[in-house]
Amino acid sequence: LDNGLGRTPPMGWNSWNHFQCSIDEKLIRETADSMVSTSLSSLGYKYINIDDCWGESNRDSQGNLVPKASTFPSGIKSLADYVHGKGLKLGIYSDAGTQTCSKTMPGSLGHEEQDANTFASWEVDYLKYDNCNNQNVNLKGRYKNMSQALLKSGRSIFFSLCEWGQEDPATWAGSVGNSWRTTGDIEDSWDSMTSRADLNDIWASYAGPGGWNDPDMLEVGNGGMTIEEYRSHFSIWALAKAPLLIGCDVRFMSNETLAILSNSEVIAVNQDKLGVQGKKVKSNGNLEVWAGPLSGGKVAVVLWNRGSSQASITVDFADIGLNSSSVVGARDLWKHSTTSAKGKLTATTASHASKMYVLTPK
Ligand code: GLA
Repeated sequence: LDNGLGRTPPMGWNSWNHFQCSIDEKLIRETADSMVSTSLSSLGYKYINIDDCWGESNRDSQGNLVPKASTFPSGIKSLADYVHGKGLKLGIYSDAGTQTCSKTMPGSLGHEEQDANTFASWEVDYLKYDNCNNQNVNLKGRYKNMSQALLKSGRSIFFSLCEWGQEDPATWAGSVGNSWRTTGDIEDSWDSMTSRADLNDIWASYAGPGGWNDPDMLEVGNGGMTIEEYRSHFSIWALAKAPLLIGCDVRFMSNETLAILSNSEVIAVNQDKLGVQGKKVKSNGNLEVWAGPLSGGKVAVVLWNRGSSQASITVDFADIGLNSSSVVGARDLWKHSTTSAKGKLTATTASHASKMYVLTPK
């Protein structure tokens, strides 16, 4: 969407994957504090996104959405002020239906302009817009209506479509939103994560500055995968130019979790200004090569072992847009060391682990 936002994939945090409906304003403030104290904010994670369950179950007498008095007594504007004061941005959630997915609060169907104006008046910076309880009203129309309402609201608001991949969003959502979900909800498991990576990959050619494929939010740090699996999750999301929305409790992260989320070289691949989504370029059984171009003639590569035992994976430069006799500097983004390679690169990779490189032609 040409609203000036999302020129690189959005980065931040969202409450849903870890907390579901157990959220309140204290959590949002403490999360904002932790994003700053851990330095995640200075690495680019700017959006603090409140997901479902922030509102009262009914609109007020003027038809306005109302923050839930028991959990958000200070209101959303006050939270926006708080996070803006820390150099962060605030995101909120609504639904293109009569109620949100939790059914604890109203959705915005039929109230698009009123709600967009409410969010703008609260100085919200990001809207995630879900698809539950939609009364079978035409999907594209529902999302277009909110897109136009946000544009008319007078505030720049990143628009994140959460239509779960329905109606092949990549083919039309580029003019409607800044990101669109290509899949159903992620779960904190290897099978869920890998299948979302594959479903999202199909649409790679449609992504670019202003509009990104969204394979759903990060599960890194939530406990259902091994550290190597989380490293693979983060590496592939970064390469695929996916939104990097942290989904764990950043107030109580392990050092290992923080180290994954803080890998500035991996983040730099995600945020590269060329904005081309890397994709699966070759697979041999469970051994996969994912790659994509970066600005300055560089190439990002992930060698991903999805099998159950250690294996050696080779990438031929001819398969990733380089000359088959090219000599490159191969920067290992997890080891933070550089070697030289000619024509191909081979690495031994543990089960479910991956190696990630940036190749710079010499
Ligand atoms: C849907 C979305 C999730 C989350 C929940 C909230 O399932 O896909 O990401 O927002 O609703 O209820």
